[in-house]
Amino acid sequence: MNVMTPMDQAGTHVWQGAAASAQADRDHDRVGLLSPGELDRASLLAPDTARLYLASHVATRRILAGYLDRDPAELQLGRRVCPQCADPLHGAPAVSWPRTTLSFNLTASGGSWLLAVTHGQPLGVDLAIASGTDPERAAPLALTAQELDRLHRLTDPQLRRALFLRAWTRKEAVVKAVGVGLVTDLRQIEVAPERPGPVRVRFGVGSSPREWTVQDLPLGPGRFAAVARPAPAAGRVQLCEYSDQALYALAPLSSQAAIAA
Ligand SMILES: CC(C)(COP(=O)(O)OP(=O)(O)OC[C@H]1O[C@@H](n2cnc3c(N)ncnc32)[C@H](O)[C@@H]1OP(=O)(O)O)[C@@H](O)C(=O)NCCC(=O)NCCS
Ligand SMILES: [Zn+2]
Repeated sequence: MNVMTPMDQAGTHVWQGAAASAQADRDHDRVGLLSPGELDRASLLAPDTARLYLASHVATRRILAGYLDRDPAELQLGRRVCPQCADPLHGAPAVSWPRTTLSFNLTASGGSWLLAVTHGQPLGVDLAIASGTDPERAAPLALTAQELDRLHRLTDPQLRRALFLRAWTRKEAVVKAVGVGLVTDLRQIEVAPERPGPVRVRFGVGSSPREWTVQDLPLGPGRFAAVARPAPAAGRVQLCEYSDQALYALAPLSSQAAIAA
């Protein structure tokens, strides 16, 4: 069992879980925690995607509720205002109620999900699975000229895929932290994928931060993930396996005075 240490002012917790797991089976009986909007969205998805969506959203509500010391069903999840077009409906997801400095970002791929949580600052997280990725097709649409050059210097297909996915997850973590998503031209964002990281990445829209510290997450073979936090990021990023036990060990943020008055 992982025990999460209390989150300091700048620290970040990244929770991980899977749709095919004993915990997700237990959570299947908890889908009543979700809002009508979440249930409607799940009903429109293909079965495997719906399963992952439901598992990740039940977990998200339970984890956030753990920090906030609330009932998961009573949380209201909404959106931040989009920094690009000021639309209130498609910025980064946020807790609308209760009022809090807590912020989070979710990513799901290949049957797994990650939920990054911090407070007092925006953050973005992205997960990608190596199988099924074709860097030759996607790279010209997503990499800067310098990154493409690095890619083309590699001859081993596995290393090429790894470099591409490291670049991709770093970029997506940043555009999710900013809240604009993939409408951005990713060829404008340099993430130095040849370097192990953490790396500093420059990208901002409107009043968002302009510079990010981006850190790769060690998830094991074939899985690539990155988390982006405003630079200079302080405090460590702690990975935690989602389970009832880990959740019960979580210290509510309210006990750390993180809920805004
Ligand atoms: C956000 C986005 C990058 C996610 O891509 P994806 O391949 O589905 O990737 P992930 O699994 O990593 O992330 C999904 C999660 O990102 C979060 N998310 C959604 N919109 C987001 C945004 N604008 N910023 C940050 N995070 C966002 C949600 O929690 C979502 O999970 P959910 O669908 O289960 O609710 C992509 O959907 C996108 O670019 N959407 C368009 C955003 C938009 O409308 N921009 C307009 C700007 S004018
Ligand atoms: Zn917008």
